[in-house]
Amino acid sequence: MVKEDFEITDAPKIIVAIDGYSSSGKSTMARELAKRVGYIYIDSGAMYRAVTLFALRHSLFKADGKVDTDKLLPLLPNLNVSFQASASQDGVQHTLLNGEDVEKEIRTMEVSNHVSPIAEIPEVRHRMVELQQRFGQEKGVVMDGRDIGTTVFPHAELKIFVTAGLHERARRRWRELQHKGLDIRFEEVLENLGKRDRIDTTRKVSPLKKADDAITLANDAITHEEQMEWLIKLFQDTVEKIENGSRD
Ligand code: CDP
Repeated sequence: MVKEDFEITDAPKIIVAIDGYSSSGKSTMARELAKRVGYIYIDSGAMYRAVTLFALRHSLFKADGKVDTDKLLPLLPNLNVSFQASASQDGVQHTLLNGEDVEKEIRTMEVSNHVSPIAEIPEVRHRMVELQQRFGQEKGVVMDGRDIGTTVFPHAELKIFVTAGLHERARRRWRELQHKGLDIRFEEVLENLGKRDRIDTTRKVSPLKKADDAITLANDAITHEEQMEWLIKLFQDTVEKIENGSRD
């Protein structure tokens, strides 16, 4: 059972790394956990999406779909991605690209279709990991992505690896896009996820893979509430274990 009176203010702060496949529900989990326990939530995928938007705006994709790295790399040191609570109080955290709110633009299919080649570039990953590690300096952070438990925070106290079947994930993403008013074919979403899974799991630098010490959650057939209860309990147990260990 989740302890309702769980005291988080004095408890030691930890890092929670939630990795997994596209549309496995990890962002929702991570966001809700962070809100519940008063931690910062960082959507690392949004950061790669912001760089992708930047590259699209500056026409840095060649005709063959490859990235013009000669032009992109010199611009990287001045590229900043940060987060801000929404001004419209919609509860959604907004992603800022060099201070500009790009939350809506980074969720389009155009960005989804270009993000994995951007996320393959070692220098891009290096820059993003540097920013991500800064967000975690004080701990008290829940971060979701592909390489958080393996590369960004290999010493995270709690690591979760989320999986679900490709069709189930595509169905979830298609519904989400429909809700946002984007008229898109299910097959297009399915194809995009399949392609990103392939690129994300086979790239040379920090491929998507479960960290040895991560706990796997296959969430095809469990409810959102069951999933959150499981996660919050795991979080509480982890913090308590650390607290007891530090008292010994
Ligand atoms: O939300 P969705 O599952 O569609 O993906 P995302 O978390 O927004 O991430 C978009 C893309 O960024 C992924 O397909 C990966 O190519 C890349 N990514 C990554 O390489 N490493 C991360 N830590 C997070 C995302």
